[in-house]
Amino acid sequence: MSVSILVGAQFGDEGKGKIVDYISAKADMVVRFQGGDNAGHTVVNEFGAFKLHLIPCGIFKPSCITLAGTGMVINPDELLHEISDLEANGINTSNLYISSRAIILMPYHIQLDCLSESSGRTGIGTTKRGIGYAYADKARRNALRFEDLLDLEYCEHRLEMVLPTVNAELVAKEGVPMGKIELLQKLRAWAKLLAPRIVEPVSFVNRAIDNGLEILFEGQLGAMKDIDLGIYPYVTSSNPTAAYAAASSGFPISKITEIIGVLKAFSSAVGSGPFPTEIKGNDADVFRGSGQNIDDEFGARTGRPRQVGWLDLPVLKYAATINGFTSLAVCKIDKLDMFDEIKICTHYSLDGKDIDYMPSAHQLEKVVPVYITVPGWKTETRKIRNFDDLPQNARNYLNIIEKATGVPIKYIGVGPSRDEIIVKSVSK
Ligand code: GDP
Ligand code: IMO
Ligand code: MG
Repeated sequence: MSVSILVGAQFGDEGKGKIVDYISAKADMVVRFQGGDNAGHTVVNEFGAFKLHLIPCGIFKPSCITLAGTGMVINPDELLHEISDLEANGINTSNLYISSRAIILMPYHIQLDCLSESSGRTGIGTTKRGIGYAYADKARRNALRFEDLLDLEYCEHRLEMVLPTVNAELVAKEGVPMGKIELLQKLRAWAKLLAPRIVEPVSFVNRAIDNGLEILFEGQLGAMKDIDLGIYPYVTSSNPTAAYAAASSGFPISKITEIIGVLKAFSSAVGSGPFPTEIKGNDADVFRGSGQNIDDEFGARTGRPRQVGWLDLPVLKYAATINGFTSLAVCKIDKLDMFDEIKICTHYSLDGKDIDYMPSAHQLEKVVPVYITVPGWKTETRKIRNFDDLPQNARNYLNIIEKATGVPIKYIGVGPSRDEIIVKSVSK
């Protein structure tokens, strides 16, 4: 039996999709535990190249059960679109289930998110997928859940209760109010297509744990965009940190056996907010690429160019502290192959003083990152499959990450495909 949780250790887009796809070879069940279709998880395997937004990346293993979990906000249209996309590529989705307690992300959530973003007042740089508004409705108890689709009369009643508030907000933002009839039509269609996949999640997950299955919980985004612990307000509206897998799924934290932190060998971010180790100019273009390749630094959800930066150890140490990582997966080490020298931020200085904590977003805008410079390895790593075959300078780079975080590295990504990976033995 194992209950593993995999989360992003930086600002999102660390390579979670690739690692989940690899690890699911051994999993019986993969559960996405938060977020919505703001996620873009890239998987490159024998079936092709995919960017998954809602469906757990364990879907490619036919015997693996996948669950879109309780902590998620799910746009049913997007989910149906993703299901048919996968099916069209020969992937069987009959093992995909949806938590009855997951929130239905409605068309008005998207409209409200787009209106807020285009007003320029919030400046968060969201993915415009309605995520914040769906979670806001959940918190103010105005949301519809997937269980409501199983009783359309109750669904209509819930809609009648929430629509006046929703429409008042739409009108205040100069949006288009939404009618009950058109929304009910949508809800009816979603019920017809998705009802067979809806399950009671607490018994579903706990039964799997009690039966000794290998279960992996897949997080979305990364530690620095956690609503409580990240760079508030430039965060998402859920908790992409490990403990939320247990809190939202309803299993005891004592059952967790492994917490895997996924990181990029450098840093990247999309959206607004502080990003201390940002690189600008030519070096940034080298990191980012042209957008032609699957692993270029452009948002897998929005296509926006990502900001890129040097590795930020304070971010990794903070992520390790708040998540309790038991192992790390370092992706994209191959993207550093061509550098003569590589910079690593060891700590921040704020108002002339070194600090040893993660400051607020407002203070983070003002910190000065303090760097060490290490020699690059100038050797192609993409074909390497054993840790000992990596150039010494690459091993030194990875050792610096292990030493700073106190967490052993288990996986090293050397390319976007499933098999472009080094599995390092971790001494217990
Ligand atoms: P996620 O949101 O954490 O799943 O990450 P994304 O899929 O948004 O972004 C990660 C990007 O890095 C994708 O383009 C992946 O194909 C790519 N990628 C992941 N691991 C590696 C790796 O080890 N090497 C290279 N070159 N690309 C990788
Ligand atoms: P994955 O799972 C990178 C960012 C947005 C914005 C902030 C809030 O692929 O790592 P939201 O739409 O959630 O209200 O936007 O969070 N963001 C992501 N950045 N990867 C993601 O997902 C993201 N999901 C949200 O850019 O800054
Ligand atoms: Mg992504």
